[in-house]
Amino acid sequence: MATGGTIAGTGDIKGKYEAGTIPGSRLLDSVKDAFDINRVEVQELFSIDSKDMNENMWQEILICVKNFLAKDDAAGVVITHGTDTMAETAFFLEYTLDTDKPVVLTGAMRPASSLSADGPMNLWSALSVADNKESKGRGVLVVMNGEIHSAAYVAKIMRNDVSAFASVNTGAIGSVLNGDVRYFLPKSRPKHKIYKIEREKKLPFVPIIYSYAGDDGEVVGSVLRYGAKGLVYAGFGSGTFSKSVKNALDEAVKKGVKVMISSKVLKGRTLTEDKKFMSADFLTPEQARILLLLKIMDDV
Ligand code: SIN
Repeated sequence: MATGGTIAGTGDIKGKYEAGTIPGSRLLDSVKDAFDINRVEVQELFSIDSKDMNENMWQEILICVKNFLAKDDAAGVVITHGTDTMAETAFFLEYTLDTDKPVVLTGAMRPASSLSADGPMNLWSALSVADNKESKGRGVLVVMNGEIHSAAYVAKIMRNDVSAFASVNTGAIGSVLNGDVRYFLPKSRPKHKIYKIEREKKLPFVPIIYSYAGDDGEVVGSVLRYGAKGLVYAGFGSGTFSKSVKNALDEAVKKGVKVMISSKVLKGRTLTEDKKFMSADFLTPEQARILLLLKIMDDV
């Protein structure tokens, strides 16, 4: 399932660049010498830069994946995606898809037309992972640069290079080299609830607020005035914040807004002693936002 991104992007050395210009069928052509592409059905879902991905599109992807996997002869799904929000789409699917079949997201850091484009190798790797029986029952996966990551733990951690993704708390769960797939540990799926999403449900406004020296709580106040139903505060260190922010977050909870505390520091666990706030635990702020969104939708 093609959604666009740099893997389907074109650019030249002068820096002119556009994501999502090449259709999925042409991306598939680039791996025809490595993988039996006659076994692959292409669905062109979107051709966007993934910065324009949104929750409605996530729901469309979810439905397409479910419909496709319902076929007996469907072994798995590969979703080609821009790298900017790939970890978020993967996390959303991880928490909403109830399947043992492999669902694998991949992308590229270099446009298809660039020197040493990484897209074809990533696509071959992702197809090999989706086609491998050992990938069943491991949840949604992200395959980039020869590494297999669980969608529950992965984040984009690098702005430029092809080694752009890492699971900073756990490490990659496997490796794929020239189509040869290996896992480091026996099969298991990350343990968490799977949320059932009804497509028509209106999605609540749930922003992330990022901590900084001098935050006086005004941003928290303004998102409340704007109608936030929940918010993620990406605090310092293990999830701490200033006294003014604490007052603003207390006020948010009093107004019935759900507050989840995460941290802008990527590695480690959030410690939230104040029980009126939810803790994002190991989740990044973006993952925490998706989980909070799902929790709020589940409650209404
Ligand atoms: C995008 O996220 O669509 C553009 C950037 C990328 O794919 O690396």
